[in-house]
Amino acid sequence: MFQQQVVVITGGSSGLGPALARRFLAAGARLALLARDAQKLARVRAELLAGAPPGARVETLVCDVCDEAACRLAMQAIAASLGRPDVLVNSAGIVAEGYFQQSDMATQRRIFETNYFGAVNITLAAMPFFSARGSGRIVNIASLAGRLPTFGLTAYGPSKFALVGFSEALRLELKPRGVRVQLACPGEFLTPMALALEATRTPENRQMNQAVPVLSLDAVADGVFAGIAANRFMIVPGRIARALDALHRLAPGLLRWLLDLRLRQVYIGPRQP
Ligand SMILES: NC(=O)c1ccc[n+]([C@@H]2O[C@H](COP(=O)([O-])OP(=O)(O)OC[C@H]3O[C@@H](n4cnc5c(N)ncnc54)[C@H](OP(=O)(O)O)[C@@H]3O)[C@@H](O)[C@H]2O)c1
Repeated sequence: MFQQQVVVITGGSSGLGPALARRFLAAGARLALLARDAQKLARVRAELLAGAPPGARVETLVCDVCDEAACRLAMQAIAASLGRPDVLVNSAGIVAEGYFQQSDMATQRRIFETNYFGAVNITLAAMPFFSARGSGRIVNIASLAGRLPTFGLTAYGPSKFALVGFSEALRLELKPRGVRVQLACPGEFLTPMALALEATRTPENRQMNQAVPVLSLDAVADGVFAGIAANRFMIVPGRIARALDALHRLAPGLLRWLLDLRLRQVYIGPRQP
C-alpha cells in the first residue's frame, strides 16, 4: 500500500516516530525523518537501514517544527531528493505535567508551540505538494489526553485537544480534495517521553492514570500503523483507552463523576513553597 510512497515523519528521532518509520519502511516506503537533534536522527537512520532491504531510502533533516521557514525548506528539500510527499505523520511533541498554579506562561506557550502550532506549521508547508497532486495523507498524533480531562496536564492536554479540533476541521476541508486526514489518540506508552514524565509527575496524575494500562511502544505503533493502513480517521490503540474515550463521548457527566470520585481518594495538592 505504501510501496515507493514518500513518508515524512516529524519526531522521527525518538519513540513513536522511529517505530512507525520501521513499519512504513517494511511496507516499501521512502522515508524522511525530521527532528532537532542531528545525532539522534543519524542513530535512528543507521538502525533503520541495518534491518532494511537493499535500496531502502531513509533521509534525515534537522528541522524544528516551531520554525515556519525551516518547515518550508525541509518540505522543499524532501520533494527535491525523494519526491513529493505522499504521507505526513506529525509525531513531534513535548510534555509537561504538574500543578497549574506552579506552571508559568513560558511552559504553556512552549507546549502549544510544539504540539499544536508545530503540527500546523509543517502541515501548511506540505499542503502545496498534496494540493498539486490531489492526494495525500496527514496523520496527526494527538493523545488520549486530547480527548479526556487528565489531572496535571493543563498545558499538554489543551494542546492535544486543539490538535484534535484541527484534525476534525481539516478532515472535512481536505476530503473533497483527495487528501485524507487521520488522528491517533493513544494513552500512555513506553518511550523516552513517558520515562521522563515518570520522574516528575504529581502523585494524583500517577494514581489516576492507573486506570489506563501503560502500553508498549510496539503495541501502540502496531495499532496506529494498522489504523492508518485501514484508513480509519480516529485511531485509539488499546481496549481500555477506547472504552474510556467512548464513555467520555456518550456520557461525559458520568466520566466526570467517576474522575471526581477517584480524585477524592488521591488528592494531595501542591505543597506551599
Ligand atoms: N509516550 C506517550 O505516553 C504518549 C502518549 C500519548 C501521545 N503521545 C504523543 O506521541 C508523540 C510521540 O511521543 P513519544 O512518546 O514518541 O515522544 P519522544 O520519545 O519524546 O519523541 C518526541 C520526538 O519529537 C521530537 N521533537 C520534539 N520537539 C520538536 C520540535 N520542536 N521540532 C521537531 N521535533 C521535535 C523529538 O526530537 P528532538 O528533541 O531531537 O527534536 C523526538 O524525536 C508525541 O506527539 C506525544 O505527545 C505520547
